[in-house]
Amino acid sequence: MPLLQVKDLHIELQTQRGPAEAVRGISFSLERGETLGIVGESGCGKSITVMSLMGLLPSNAKVTGSIRFDDTELVGRDEKDMCQIRGNRIGMIFQEPMTALNPVHTIVRQVGEPLRLHRGLSKAEARKEVLALLERVGIPDAASRLDAYPHQFSGGQRQRIGIAMALACGPDLLIADEPTTALDVTIQKQILELIQSLVEERGMALILISHDLGVIAQTVSKMLVMYGGSVVESGPTEAVFARRAHPYTQGLFAARPALGAPRGVRLATIRGSVPELVDLPRGCPFAGRCSYTIDACQTTRPPATMLPQDHAVRCIRLEEIATQVAVAS
Ligand SMILES: Nc1ncnc2c1ncn2[C@@H]1O[C@H](COP(=O)(O)OP(=O)(O)O)[C@@H](O)[C@H]1O
Ligand code: SF4
Ligand SMILES: [Mg+2]
Repeated sequence: MPLLQVKDLHIELQTQRGPAEAVRGISFSLERGETLGIVGESGCGKSITVMSLMGLLPSNAKVTGSIRFDDTELVGRDEKDMCQIRGNRIGMIFQEPMTALNPVHTIVRQVGEPLRLHRGLSKAEARKEVLALLERVGIPDAASRLDAYPHQFSGGQRQRIGIAMALACGPDLLIADEPTTALDVTIQKQILELIQSLVEERGMALILISHDLGVIAQTVSKMLVMYGGSVVESGPTEAVFARRAHPYTQGLFAARPALGAPRGVRLATIRGSVPELVDLPRGCPFAGRCSYTIDACQTTRPPATMLPQDHAVRCIRLEEIATQVAVAS
């Protein structure tokens, strides 16, 4: 049985213009120790999707479908049950480390809290374990900084502390939502390498959200391309990179900065912008923005076409587009 199995997940949110579906029937699964990436432009539903796994959605969000974690159905669980799973079996690293850290508490207290709460460690035991964790994530001179506060650390160090906190109870699944976006380029690489080595060392499963295709290529073995609350393409990272079957995936690759491009060069972007949730078309979410759009795209939700290697693509014009691309190149 997979560690995580998400089936037909729908999430409805209240927006200023009324209720709208932010996630529209997505399914995926993750084995123990497996790594999964989620890519897509801002506003596609990536964060909402992983927040639902943590039970951290706004209280007016309506979730239907199924999220099975190990033996447990998470949809419909109350806050008390979710609290047992969150920070214990599932750890999360946030884009902005201060989301996880409380400015008025010392580091030892915060990183140690899940250990005391979920594993019942004494204060002294937790302190010892926190020191080991901080040393593992690379906080220099950790022994003398246990009683320091978050603002006494740099941005990169705060993210390392956030990672230590997510790891404290030895979770089976680590979720990282754009964990390096708020950091300097040189620090980004170090943090990513740290996450990667911890995942390997501890045999954790990983869900990594990133808008950086290079990061996805280096870090995860399979991936989901999300647009408009839907998964438009999914499969092994190598297969998706090699085929780039969906027009939206093609757009993401075309908009990617070229390797070695001088800084400040304007990037190509995908024509148009992500529509508001309430304005998404009934059919294919990419209809209208996609240069291959025909009338049927507006009304039909594209079913998944299966390519070799468990590679799935949701586009009703897949074959015609493949022919056009082949003729053009
Ligand atoms: N608390 C909320 N209330 C209403 N709408 C929200 C809320 N959080 C996110 N949204 C909307 O849900 C959509 C998906 O958001 P999100 O998952 O944060 O996207 P991503 O992480 O891919 O950038 C966006 O249209 C966003 O405006
Ligand atoms: S279904 Fe239509 S609009 Fe959607 S990606 Fe395919 S061609 Fe474009
Ligand atoms: Mg997000």
